Amino acid sequence: TDRTLLLAGNWKMNLDHLEAISTVQKLAWALRDAKVDLTAVDVVVLPPFTDIRSVQTLIQGDSLDMAYGGQDLSAHDEGAYTGEVSGRFLSRLGCSYVIIGHSERREHHGETDAQVRSKVEAALRHELTPILCVGEPLEVREAGEHVAHTLDQLAAALDDLPSADLGGLVVAYEPVWAIGTGKTATAADAAEMCTALREKLRELLGADTAQSVRLLYGGSVKADNVAEITEHPEVDGALIGGASLDPDGFAALCRAA
Ligand code: G3H
Repeated sequence: TDRTLLLAGNWKMNLDHLEAISTVQKLAWALRDAKVDLTAVDVVVLPPFTDIRSVQTLIQGDSLDMAYGGQDLSAHDEGAYTGEVSGRFLSRLGCSYVIIGHSERREHHGETDAQVRSKVEAALRHELTPILCVGEPLEVREAGEHVAHTLDQLAAALDDLPSADLGGLVVAYEPVWAIGTGKTATAADAAEMCTALREKLRELLGADTAQSVRLLYGGSVKADNVAEITEHPEVDGALIGGASLDPDGFAALCRAA
């Protein structure tokens, strides 16, 4: 396909701003040593908010061929929302991406489909590319309802949004039971869901826009399983948690993809 492979490292709540500097520096060296062709693959890091300024300084200062973004944003643009971070602030720090609706936010912070949708709109207002996360918990998969559940989350987030704004969208399929558990969905599971997501995107956004959306798989992706997962034409990359924290490991993963 003409969609560029995307490998996004979600650091979650790991690495303070000093650790972030050494991690990005080591990652740049490791990517070079591993001869990762950064024109052929998009490498993105998603650090905690407090790290972003440091990451910006390093990536922009050294002209590193990497993008970065936030792990969440407020649905509001500014005002009396203590503890929240505006998409505008992320944009001003040179962020290109923002994760929206990660299952950890849905689960631990009660984030609803309606809030996820408002956050997608906020991201678009500030020219941030959403990495919209969808996926089912274990009991839903065991009931055989994983496809319906995941497509419902997708529709709730995107229904009636102007498709012209969503050409660069990224959607990450993350089965909750595969996150941080070492239990990876099979390449066939990832392919099945990404095929269903693409079909639903055609319905929601029209064929052309749907074709340009990048679909990622996330959940215990490592250097030794990434190639198999991204081999399918409908799987355009991965959202990587644990394995993105070690620079050499993440570079090896980027090399293997
Ligand atoms: O956002 C990343 C995912 O939640 C996957 O995390 O690679 O540690 O399983 P993991």
